[in-house]
Amino acid sequence: MEDKKSDDEPGVVNSGSESRNGASGSEEDALPSEDRSLMSNNESTDEEPFVCEVNRSEKRAPGSVPEAAPIIEVINVKKSYILGDMEVSILHDINLTVREGEFLAIMGPSGSGKSTLMNLIGFLDRPTEGKIIIKGRDVNKLSDKEIARLRGLEVGFIFQTFNLIPRLNALENVELPTYANAREGVDTHKKARELLELVGLDDRMHHKPSELSGGQSQRVAIARSLINDPAILLADEPTGNLDSKTGCEILNMFTKLNEEGRTIVMITHDPDIAKYADRVVLVKDGIIQSQDNS
Ligand SMILES: Nc1ncnc2c1ncn2[C@@H]1O[C@H](COP(=O)(O)OP(=O)(O)O)[C@@H](O)[C@H]1O
Ligand SMILES: [Mg+2]
Repeated sequence: MEDKKSDDEPGVVNSGSESRNGASGSEEDALPSEDRSLMSNNESTDEEPFVCEVNRSEKRAPGSVPEAAPIIEVINVKKSYILGDMEVSILHDINLTVREGEFLAIMGPSGSGKSTLMNLIGFLDRPTEGKIIIKGRDVNKLSDKEIARLRGLEVGFIFQTFNLIPRLNALENVELPTYANAREGVDTHKKARELLELVGLDDRMHHKPSELSGGQSQRVAIARSLINDPAILLADEPTGNLDSKTGCEILNMFTKLNEEGRTIVMITHDPDIAKYADRVVLVKDGIIQSQDNS
């Protein structure tokens, strides 16, 4: 491999977003001392190369695909965009089934259509052709209102750039999705506090995104994604703006959330991260090149 560092390279420390997010001090300084259920126990010093330890239970060893009902079905899906008077085809003929409780990684070069595919799965966009079925419901047959509700309750999104609202504090950011959609009988304020505790941010609830590091921001985004207790978590390069160690913490959170039964679809550039998924799907030029079930 050549010397030049790229975003695609595993384990690259990307300090850009940390400074953009006003990080001061290390992630460790910010963590409460007691063990939190979603927090990992990775110990290493800056001198030695960091090796991410992911704690998975025996019954869900990497590579095992659960025998469960399909929760996401992508059937003969094509997606194209109209640019001027030209139709640009992005996804060609995608077929993909994700089962309940599965942890799927999607890998592929930049521009290959990974985010486009994830946006379709998360109802942020509709396919040009083909079917997307989520929890047995055909997206093509739903109204915009029904789609918004299903998305709000059943899908949690986590993005590379966190996508927090700058003028809201952590607690308000976590609670925000419930203003559009919430499950009946849930005290959303209490739930938002509990989720921030779960991700180890008890002492950052009233901080705004500019007062949080990249890792803390992503933990807020994870708490936000869980506020309506969705069955599916979609994460688009969730560790792409984080250093290896913080990325590892986030990966451990995903692993635990997956072991609790949530279906996770995660886009990543990093084979070291993808290897903890049950299955890796490779997307290239808008086509699924391989689906690894080993
Ligand atoms: N809204 C859009 N309009 C036109 N082209 C788009 C749009 N969104 C994405 N694309 C194009 O689709 C291709 C795939 O993009 P994307 O799914 O973001 O790739 P990836 O996430 O794999 O990097 C890119 O060439 C991109 O420029
Ligand atoms: Mg992308």
